[in-house]
Amino acid sequence: MKRPRCVLLSGISISRLLLISFVFLCSVPGGFSSKAITLGSIQIFNTHEFLAGKPTIYFYCKGEKKIILPEVKEKHFFYTYKGKESWQPLTELPDNKCKRCGLYEMDSIKSDDVFDEWELCLDDFIDGKSTHFKEEEFNATFRCEKCRAAADPGTTSGSKSGSVDKRMNVVLVIVISALVSVIAAAGIVGAYRYWQKRKREQEQARFLKLFEDGDDIEDELGLGQI
Ligand SMILES: *[C@@H]1O[C@H](CO)[C@@H](O)[C@H](O)[C@H]1NC(C)=O
Repeated sequence: MKRPRCVLLSGISISRLLLISFVFLCSVPGGFSSKAITLGSIQIFNTHEFLAGKPTIYFYCKGEKKIILPEVKEKHFFYTYKGKESWQPLTELPDNKCKRCGLYEMDSIKSDDVFDEWELCLDDFIDGKSTHFKEEEFNATFRCEKCRAAADPGTTSGSKSGSVDKRMNVVLVIVISALVSVIAAAGIVGAYRYWQKRKREQEQARFLKLFEDGDDIEDELGLGQI
């Protein structure tokens, strides 16, 4: 008789599935909470390349890849962006950590020139915008749509981001509980279906057994006749 063990196994695997999905869901919030930072506008006041030719300007965060700003060639020209350009976003910020980023110019001979290097932090973004200005070098605005706090007057930017955090948490809790309920419901339906199938199989087996027994009796009767 192998079936009972099978039932036990499937019982274990359903609860394990639930556990795994729960653990997975619990680990998700960290996953989708990072905030994309895009370049809104930039104006450079200086280039560092002495030889003739257009400069190649790029944005770079420590440990990430260089993002070349293809249009930025002219001094004092005000470049604006929609945030949807192919090379955007510049980077993504996690919830509780700043990144060391900077604006650089590629140099064909010596090491690349630095416009400025600074700590890019979520706190810099007020209403989803942040400006970084360095005298004689550049003035750039950055956007972070997901960092945007609802503009409610009379609160400081600090408490604003706090209320956004709280709202995000409430949304997360709702989403996670909805998902968990769906998975639990699916598990219950699956278990019920399985139970039904097993019952049917058992009934069939009993029915067949009845036939087999009937055959045995017939055989015996047949033997008896011969
Ligand atoms: C830098 O650019 C922003 C956005 O255009 C502007 O509001 C700000 O006044 C500029 N700052 C300086 C110092 O030029």
